[in-house]
Amino acid sequence: MSKGQDKLMFSYKTVVHRWPVILTNIVSAISSVNHTLGEADKGKLEEGKGIIRKLSELKHNMGRNGVLQPIPDDGEGNLTCYNDELAATPEEEKRWFTMNWLFAECYLYRLLRTFFSLTTHWKSYDPFFESKAETYKSSSGAIVHLANALNAMVANPRLQDGWEGEKSPLEMAFWEMVQADLWGNATDLSLLVDLNYADLQKLQAVGAAAQKEQATRILRDDLPRVWDLLKTVKGGRVDIVLDNAGFEVYTDLILADFLVSCTPFVDSVVFHPKLIPWFVSDVLPRDFEWAIDSLLDPAFFSAHANVSEADTRALSELSRRWRSHMASGTFRLSVPTDTPIGKDEPAANFWTTQYAYADMPALDPALLAELQKADLVVFKGDLNYRKLIGDGKWPATTSFEQALGPLNGTINLVSLRTNKADTICGLEPGIEERMDAEAPDWRVSGKYAVVSFAPRT
Ligand code: F6P
Ligand code: MG
Repeated sequence: MSKGQDKLMFSYKTVVHRWPVILTNIVSAISSVNHTLGEADKGKLEEGKGIIRKLSELKHNMGRNGVLQPIPDDGEGNLTCYNDELAATPEEEKRWFTMNWLFAECYLYRLLRTFFSLTTHWKSYDPFFESKAETYKSSSGAIVHLANALNAMVANPRLQDGWEGEKSPLEMAFWEMVQADLWGNATDLSLLVDLNYADLQKLQAVGAAAQKEQATRILRDDLPRVWDLLKTVKGGRVDIVLDNAGFEVYTDLILADFLVSCTPFVDSVVFHPKLIPWFVSDVLPRDFEWAIDSLLDPAFFSAHANVSEADTRALSELSRRWRSHMASGTFRLSVPTDTPIGKDEPAANFWTTQYAYADMPALDPALLAELQKADLVVFKGDLNYRKLIGDGKWPATTSFEQALGPLNGTINLVSLRTNKADTICGLEPGIEERMDAEAPDWRVSGKYAVVSFAPRT
């Protein structure tokens, strides 16, 4: 596992550069709210200032490689998992640069939550909501393109003809929908610290030519194996362990809708969100709802883009279909859709612990049993991938199955991940060397990806 002090790794860049920017952005978000408050909101204003003070102290403490302190009890879930591990760690190790990076990063977001949960007026505040909304709005080009593509597929009864055949139209459509969902992950907001707007637009490119080019940047592609599995399923269930809000969750919904509306394989999709603001842009239940409802608002995208009336109709059609999937149970969140931020929901707490998923069978057998009801579990994004393979410093040719440890063989799983951290496995011999020569930042730039599958045995 890497540590903040590993200068050649993304962990070092994160501790020195990315986290301070993320904390500063939270300060700005709170300041903007504070500016709108008057005399009547004095209590909220004072609490807002208190949060800003805590954020500044935290930033200072990080820069000086301070010791990670126990998380104060705010009555919400996942306290002891962090505090017990801290208590068992020697003092010289539990500092921002010396603690293992995965722990330190998860701890950071759980600690940040207490800055809000321990107030009266900011309890349900998500400091990242505005930035999630902004990037969703600025993704209108790709959103409209995918809406039109999917609506056309849903309206085409012949798409399923001959799906058993080699590279059938249905299989090709599946490949396109999965690719859109995979690259939807490139646009997480914590990475926007390093990417500019033009990069973002490029990563979101959809359409045949763009996808062909993107496919050359998938360094391991197990999609044919996923397709072979799906073809054996009839009326099954797919679970998606969500990653980011906005454009990415939109692409998750697109893939889910494709599976239930255009294939005979899948009847229902269960989505697993986070319960606290997490790694900046991860999906909370309200983000999920909001992503669907915003499509119905004709004014939503107009400030940024040329969205025609026909496009607006396509988006409404999509939104209404997704609402009806929610109403019928075809689509379902793993927690009640109105779950407030911070609610202790044992069914979803595991995702915001520091644990690797290899620990799931031992630490959260109930969650594993739930995932086992699915015919396929899709894990989205970089952090899920890091947790799947324990954020280990694996030789790149280590098999994905080996890196999964005790989780391997318990569920059918596929990870759709754009590479944003050093850890990686499952590559054919020679790829690592070629990439090191061709694009030295291939592990962390978000421009390369892996699609890794492991079957239930
Ligand atoms: O900062 C750590 C990290 O996991 C990065 O590796 C990545 O850029 C980001 O957080 C989260 O990525 P994702 O939203 O894809 O999980
Ligand atoms: Mg994320």
